[in-house]
Amino acid sequence: MCGIIGVAGCGDETLSVVLDGLSTLEYRGYDSAGVALTDETLDVAKREGRLSVLQSALEERADPPTGEVGVGHTRWSTHGPPTDVNAHPHTDQAGRVAVVHNGIIENYQQLRDDLREEGVEFESDTDTEVVPKLIAAALDAGADPETAVREGVDRLAGSYALVVTIAGDDRLFAARNDSPLVLGIGDGAHYLASDVPAFLEHTREVVYLNDGEFATVSADDYRVTDADGTRVEKESTTVNWSAEQTGKGGYDHFMLKEIHEQPTALRQSLSGRTDALDGRVTLEELDEPGDPRRVQFVAAGTSYHAALYGAALLRQAGVPAQASLSSEYATAPAPVSTDTLVVGVTQSGETADTLSALREARDRGAETLAVTNVVGSTAARECAHALYIRAGPEICVAATKTFSSQLVTLNLLAEHLAGQDAGTRKLIPALRNLPDDLQAVLDQSVATTVVDDYLGKESFFFIGRGLHHPVALEGALKFKEITYEHAEGFAAGELKHGTLALVTPETPVFAVVTGEGERAHKTIGNVKEVQARGAPVVAVTDGVSEVQRYADHVLAVPETHERLAPVLANVQLQLVAYHMADRLSRSIDKPRNLAKSVTVE
Ligand code: AGP
Ligand code: GLU
Repeated sequence: MCGIIGVAGCGDETLSVVLDGLSTLEYRGYDSAGVALTDETLDVAKREGRLSVLQSALEERADPPTGEVGVGHTRWSTHGPPTDVNAHPHTDQAGRVAVVHNGIIENYQQLRDDLREEGVEFESDTDTEVVPKLIAAALDAGADPETAVREGVDRLAGSYALVVTIAGDDRLFAARNDSPLVLGIGDGAHYLASDVPAFLEHTREVVYLNDGEFATVSADDYRVTDADGTRVEKESTTVNWSAEQTGKGGYDHFMLKEIHEQPTALRQSLSGRTDALDGRVTLEELDEPGDPRRVQFVAAGTSYHAALYGAALLRQAGVPAQASLSSEYATAPAPVSTDTLVVGVTQSGETADTLSALREARDRGAETLAVTNVVGSTAARECAHALYIRAGPEICVAATKTFSSQLVTLNLLAEHLAGQDAGTRKLIPALRNLPDDLQAVLDQSVATTVVDDYLGKESFFFIGRGLHHPVALEGALKFKEITYEHAEGFAAGELKHGTLALVTPETPVFAVVTGEGERAHKTIGNVKEVQARGAPVVAVTDGVSEVQRYADHVLAVPETHERLAPVLANVQLQLVAYHMADRLSRSIDKPRNLAKSVTVE
C-alpha cells in the first residue's frame, strides 16, 4: 500500500500542494517518498525515509522543482527495499515519463525480460519501473502520450493505481485496477489521489474511479474513459468529513479502518502467488530454502498466535514444526541443525525479543526466514530469507489486518514447504475467495448488538480447538488490549482443567466452532459445560454444526476451507473487541502502556 497524488493547475503552488497531500497519505506508507514536477522537462526528487527527509532535501535546493503538473508518492515497499533508487516516481531512460504506482505488477518479471531484450536498462528492484519503460517504448514507436499510456497499461497484470506525467504535456494520465484512486474537482485545478484527505483542503467534490477506468486530467478539464477508450459519464459526490476523520478514511479509528482494509490486505498478500489453473503456490522470494526437515517459529504477541497457527498447518502436512515465544526461545532452545528452518513471524520486523531469538538460531547454525510486513526491516535484513505479508502499514497499536495477512501468508509458506499436495486443489480456490468471504463478515456482523448485552460483565473467555485455538488466544488478547477488561483464551478442552472454576453467569464465553466432525462436536460439549454453570455463550460459527442451538448469540462466518475458517472467525472477534472498547470510550488506537513496536527485551 502506498499513497499517490497528482495535481494539475496549481501553478507556483504545485510542489507545496503535492507535499501537503503526501503528508496526509503517510498512513498508507512511509518508507520513502518522492515527487516529480513537469513543464518542458521532468524534475524528480526522491528519498529513502519519512516524507520529512524529502522535504528537508527539497528545502536545501537552491532551485526547488516547478511545474504546471506534479505527482508524488509515499511508499510502502513490496518489491525491493526502501532506498532512494527504489523510491517512486520511476522514470524512463530518457527522463520523459514519470510514474507513481500503488499496487503490485504481477507480470513485471516477464515485462522486464522482454524490455531488456529490446535494450532497455533497469536501475531499481521494483515492479513499478516497467511502467514508464513500457510507456516510453510506445512513445518511441510514435504513439501520442495518451495512447502510449494506454498501451503500456494494457500490458500490465496485477493491481495498480497509476498517475503518469510526461515532459512537455500539461496533462496527467491515470489508470486504476484493484487499488484506490479518486479524482478531485477544484476551481481551475484537478487532483488525483489514493485517498480524499490528500486534496480535501482544496476541494470536497470528488469522482471515484472504478477498476479498468482511465482518466486524463488537466487544469481545467478531466475525462474518464473505459478500457476501450469510450467516455464514461461520472457523477461527482461531495464528501463531508471532519478534519478528525481525515487519514482514517471516514472511520472513527485507525483500528476500524484497518479491520475494513482486510479484504484488500489479503488480495495483496495473495497477489501473483497462487495459480488458479494449476492450483499451485509460487513464492518468488523463496527459491530457497529447499526442504527443511523441521521448522521452528519464533514470535511475540499476536504474531505468536499466527506462529502457533503456522506450526499447526505444517504439522498437519507432516512437517515437524513448533512455535516458541521469542522471549523464551533462548532459555530452552530446541535442537537445531542445518536442515532446521527458524521462522520469525514479526509484523514490524523490529521486535527485540524476536530479533534476538532469530540471532540465537542463526548462531547455532539454523537457516532463518523472516515473515514480515516491513520490507528492509531488521528481521528482513538479518535473516537469510524474507517473505513479505504485504498488508500495508498498520497504524493502530493493536494488530488486525497484519494478523490476517500473516495467516494467509503462512498458508502459502506451508504449501511451499510441504510440497503442494492434493489438498491444495481445494485450498487455492478458497484462498482466492477469502477476501470476498471476509468482506461478507464485515458487511453482516452483528458484533455491536452482542457487545451491548455484555457491557459490565466480570470476565470474558474465548475458547477454540485445533486451528481455532490460536484464534481464541488472539480474540482474548485483542479484547484485553483495547477494552482493559479481563479476558482469557483457552484450548476448549483445557477449561475443565481449572478455569471452569471461574465460570459464572457473569463470564460470557466466546466459542469458535466451524465445520463438523469430532473437533466441533467436542467443543459443543465444552459449550454445554459452561452453560451448565450459567455462562452466556456467543458462538462464532459457519452454521455447519449445531452449536447455534445452544448459543445465546451467533456471530456468523461463511463456510470455507477448514484451514481458512480461523481467518474469518478472528474478524468477528476483532469487531467484538473494537465495539466493546468503543462503548467503554477507551483509547483504541493507542492503548495505555503499549507501543506498536517493542524494541526492548
Ligand atoms: C498485538 O495487537 C500487539 N501489537 C503485539 O502483540 C504484537 O503483535 C507484538 O508486539 C509483536 O509485534 P511484531 O509482530 O511487530 O513482532
Ligand atoms: N509495488 C510497488 C513498490 O514496491 C508499490 C508498492 C505498493 O503500492 O504497496 O514500490
